[in-house]
Amino acid sequence: MDAISVIRIKRDRGELTPEQIDWVIDAYTRGEVADEQMSALAMAILLNGMNRAEIARWTAAMIASGERMDFSSLSRPTADKHSTGGVGDKITLPLAPLVAACGAAVPQLSGRGLGHTGGTLDKLESIPGWRALLSNDEMLDVLDTTGAVICAAGDGLAPADKKLYALRDVTGTVEAIPLIASSIMSKKIAEGTGSLVLDVKVGSGAFMKTVEDARELASTMVGLGTDHGVKTVALLTDMATPLGLTAGNALEVRESVEVLAGGGPADVVELTLALAREMLDAAGIKDADPAKALADGSAMDVWRRMIAAQGGDPDAALPVAREQHVVTAPRSGVLTRLDAYGIGVAAWRLGAGRARKEDPVQAGAGIELHAKPGDTVAAGAPLLTLHTDTPEKFDYALKSLDGAYDIAPAGTAYEATPVVLERIA
Ligand code: URA
Repeated sequence: MDAISVIRIKRDRGELTPEQIDWVIDAYTRGEVADEQMSALAMAILLNGMNRAEIARWTAAMIASGERMDFSSLSRPTADKHSTGGVGDKITLPLAPLVAACGAAVPQLSGRGLGHTGGTLDKLESIPGWRALLSNDEMLDVLDTTGAVICAAGDGLAPADKKLYALRDVTGTVEAIPLIASSIMSKKIAEGTGSLVLDVKVGSGAFMKTVEDARELASTMVGLGTDHGVKTVALLTDMATPLGLTAGNALEVRESVEVLAGGGPADVVELTLALAREMLDAAGIKDADPAKALADGSAMDVWRRMIAAQGGDPDAALPVAREQHVVTAPRSGVLTRLDAYGIGVAAWRLGAGRARKEDPVQAGAGIELHAKPGDTVAAGAPLLTLHTDTPEKFDYALKSLDGAYDIAPAGTAYEATPVVLERIA
């Protein structure tokens, strides 16, 4: 078999055979298929698609490229969640300890931010001492003793995806539904969770800009999970507006701790509880009450133990950026739009995100929102506070906020978009 004939088949809208898929994934992982050949194939897949059978085989081949984890020694059922990424999406932070407090084991292998979307590991690393890199034994130990662990995926898990994702990122081939679905699901299936809830984001701040695309991605992933014996459910959730009132690493940790303390913004609480209920249901835990676990402090107890078990100090002060800049409302009225993409790009430019994988992030950088769509704002009142250690970036960040919000005359009716748009099972 050779790479050029496999590329030609997909270029000419043909269907790849199981043998061709197994070979190309294995040969690419071993370095026999070159990056330029795989990027040509990825582009052909982006343009011409893959059918269900091809996606299933591609996913299985990526799983087979590495190790599979096994949580069968745990006494609790496992439940995991994956978000396709958004702005201000800190939900994993309160959700993992909350679901653990309700009786499930939550093995949450998470990623770093790239581009305008934030990453869970970058957020947690703003807690002094906290470690994202754990050995498989350490991961199991934290999971067993605290009920939840949030850490980086080890190098042994779906190595084909690690290599392919990095390649797609620099070749304009991230936004292909077959490649996104197989990338996410190969890691989740290899991780060995018994059940999985997918938070598929829709809107300007998400990979999927339309409900139709999000629905296709969600149903492809639900099908892959189900075929591999993982009980999988997806929620399509709004990402036209940032989640909560913060976007940025330490800022989002602070907001997550507010949720665990029984407060926090209404949309973050609503989505955390909706996902918690789905995870508990998928794990077969029927009698738990996640709202009570937030209110009575039991989720906070798990959070503190989980952070401490990974070297973090849950009582340490969080980093604060050296400089702030306040954006005020240019006129009075009703805020009718606050664009997630514009806010995400501004937070990224302030230093909360990275342009290349190896770049550092600033723990304190990001944006605080002082109003959300539907709120009444007064001319001259603070709308956003920008935080950074590199104030020379303010102008660059402000450019991405041009046209990122609309203020309509006072009294204008505003119809809120629901947080959860659809459920796919
Ligand atoms: N997240 C992943 O893990 N893979 C993708 O392809 C896109 C988002």
